[in-house]
Amino acid sequence: MTEREAAPQVSAAAAPEPAVEPVLAAENLVKHFPADNGQVVHAVNGVSFSIRPGEVLGMVGESGSGKSTVGRMVLRLLKPTSGTVRFRGRDISALPERECRPLRADMSIVFQDPWGALNPRMKVSALIGEPLKLHTPLSSAERRRRVEELADRVHLSTAFLDRYTADLSGGQLQRVCIARAIATNPKLVVLDEPTSSLDLSVRAGILELLAELRDETQVAMLFISHDLGTVRLISDRIVVLYLGSIVEYAAAQEVFERPAHPYTQALISAHLPPDPRARLTRHVLEGEIPSPIDLPEGCPFAARCPVVQPRCGQEVPQMVPVGDDGHRAACLRIPEGGNQIPR
Ligand SMILES: Nc1ncnc2c1ncn2[C@@H]1O[C@H](COP(=O)(O)OP(=O)(O)OP(=O)(O)O)[C@@H](O)[C@H]1O
Ligand SMILES: [Mg+2]
Repeated sequence: MTEREAAPQVSAAAAPEPAVEPVLAAENLVKHFPADNGQVVHAVNGVSFSIRPGEVLGMVGESGSGKSTVGRMVLRLLKPTSGTVRFRGRDISALPERECRPLRADMSIVFQDPWGALNPRMKVSALIGEPLKLHTPLSSAERRRRVEELADRVHLSTAFLDRYTADLSGGQLQRVCIARAIATNPKLVVLDEPTSSLDLSVRAGILELLAELRDETQVAMLFISHDLGTVRLISDRIVVLYLGSIVEYAAAQEVFERPAHPYTQALISAHLPPDPRARLTRHVLEGEIPSPIDLPEGCPFAARCPVVQPRCGQEVPQMVPVGDDGHRAACLRIPEGGNQIPR
């Protein structure tokens, strides 16, 4: 479902929570990892979002901002330190490992590196059939038929089914990973940088395939990427993550047309292609993302923010509404309009 199609169901003043029952609702997710010398890595610091059926939620942020940790927590591959993950209405955040297993047929993940994700000693047919073997009672003949159907679905020639991964290109291998991920008709797929390791020329094909699958099956997707441009091509809504916190959350178009957080504005201006006709000022993000071991006080972006004020180093900004359709951002300067980086 595109944002345009979804629009009539959502009133202009609607809260960000979707009218349709979400497949996934993450509330106040926190993840701490132990570090050396008894220190703590604050990888994720209170993240909330939801995804409805047929929706692609893009999650964007620099390396180390906590994207993969969020992705692994919502699939319960990782237990949250606190907060809840509601999958199809059921709180799965504290389930014991054993009780998570049946969930594996309903939720899946596609990783960045298809070479590392697939066993090179298994034929492609066995790789695609593996989740069916684990989670369904299909006979081997029925499985073979379903594997052929899945290959077809991801536009992979069935001639590859009896080959090994070494015979396939990166793009073809990622299609195998996607076929595996959708084999059991999951309700949620997390895609963690699924195109980042692929040649530019094959990225668009993978994004088109994902959009097609979403339209056909109404599967909900969490699409993780450090690249706003990629996220823009596929997402209905976008969350921008910075140092383990969401700094902006809005419909994809809103994020690009009316970015409210200075960090989002800087990301967008850094991404724009050079155009001699446009009078654009590029805001290069200076410095590095601070260490999640010593979280800064106040706003996590304060040290790099072009419109920072002294109070930003003391007060933690909360998410506030900045427009229609649940567009929200966390910047203390929004009420007075000082959040816009001057051009
Ligand atoms: N198992 C772990 N133990 C300790 N620290 C961890 C662990 N996993 C992640 N971290 C730390 O948590 C923070 C968030 O990591 P995460 O991998 O979620 O970021 P990311 O946004 O996915 O980054 P990238 O774009 O590089 O994939 C980082 O500082 C990382 O070093
Ligand atoms: Mg990651």
